[in-house]
Amino acid sequence: MTGTPALDLRSVRRVYGFGPSATTALDDVHLSVPAGRFVSLIGPSGCGKSTLLRIAAGLEEPDHGTVRVHGVEPAEACAAKMIGLVPQSPALLPWLSVLRNVTLPHKINKGAARRRERIAGNAERAVTGAPDMRELLVKAGLGEAMHKLPAQLSGGMRQRAAIVRAFGLRPDVLVMDEPFSALDEFTRESLQDQLLDLWDELKTTVLFVTHSVSEAVRLSDTVVVMAPHPGRIVDTIEVDLERPRGDRLFGERRFHEYEDLIRDRLRRAWRSEAA
Ligand SMILES: Nc1ncnc2c1ncn2[C@@H]1O[C@H](COP(=O)(O)OP(=O)(O)O)[C@@H](O)[C@H]1O
Ligand SMILES: [Mg+2]
Repeated sequence: MTGTPALDLRSVRRVYGFGPSATTALDDVHLSVPAGRFVSLIGPSGCGKSTLLRIAAGLEEPDHGTVRVHGVEPAEACAAKMIGLVPQSPALLPWLSVLRNVTLPHKINKGAARRRERIAGNAERAVTGAPDMRELLVKAGLGEAMHKLPAQLSGGMRQRAAIVRAFGLRPDVLVMDEPFSALDEFTRESLQDQLLDLWDELKTTVLFVTHSVSEAVRLSDTVVVMAPHPGRIVDTIEVDLERPRGDRLFGERRFHEYEDLIRDRLRRAWRSEAA
C-alpha cells in the first residue's frame, strides 16, 4: 500500500454559534492516522471529541481546514461505505431481528463496493466480499441471540450487535464514540477484547473516543489527548506495549506508567487553560 493516511485532518477548525456566545469546538487540529492503527481520543467533556469524530466520518464539515479519508473527501468515502460508525448508544431497528439488523446494510449498498475499490485500492477486500455475519455474531457472543429482537437483549448485547453491524461492512475506517461508556465494567472488558479480536482480523483503522484512561491504554496504538476552550489536541502518546494485551500486562508497572503519563498530560492541559 502507499503511504496515504487512512485519516488526515489539517488545520481543522469548527465553531458553533456566533458572536460572544460562539464555541470553538475544534481549533487548529492536525491528525494523521496511518492505515490499520488504533487511535483513541481522550479528554474532558466538551473538548471536541465527538465533533472531531463527526467531521472525520463526514457527518459534519469543518469551518476551516481539510479532511481526507484515504485521500478523498469524507462524503465520498461515506458514499463508498468506507466509514463505519458506532454511536454512543446503538441504533438498531426495533422491528428486525439482530441478524437482520446486521445484514441489512449489505443489501442496500451494492454499488458502493466498486467506488470503494477505486478509492482505497482495496481490491482484496472487495473480492473477499462480505464476511459471514452469522459467524461474526457467534464470535461476539450473540449466537443464541441472533433471531431475537433488540428489545429482548441486554444493553451490552445491543452494543455488541451495533459493533458487529459496523464491522460487517469491513469499513476502512471505524469511528466509535464512547461505545462502552454506558456498560458495566465486566461487559466493557469483554467487549474491548472482542473489538480487538475483530480489529486484528479485519485490519481496519479505528478512531475511538473514550474518557477512560485505562481503556485508552488497553486498546490503543496511539492516544491523542485533547483539552477544551478551545477544543484542541495537546498531546499524542504512542503506546508501545505488545499485543495481545492480557490481564497480566494490566497489572504491570509499564501499563500503569502509561496511565500515569496520560493522566499527567490531561492535568497539564487543564492547568494551561486556567493560566
Ligand atoms: N451542535 C452543536 N451546537 C452548539 N454547540 C455544540 C454543538 N455540538 C457541540 N457543541 C459544543 O462544542 C463543544 C465540543 O463538543 P463535543 O464535540 O460534543 O465535545 P466532547 O465530545 O469532547 O464532549 C462543547 O462546548 C459543545 O457544547
Ligand atoms: Mg462526546
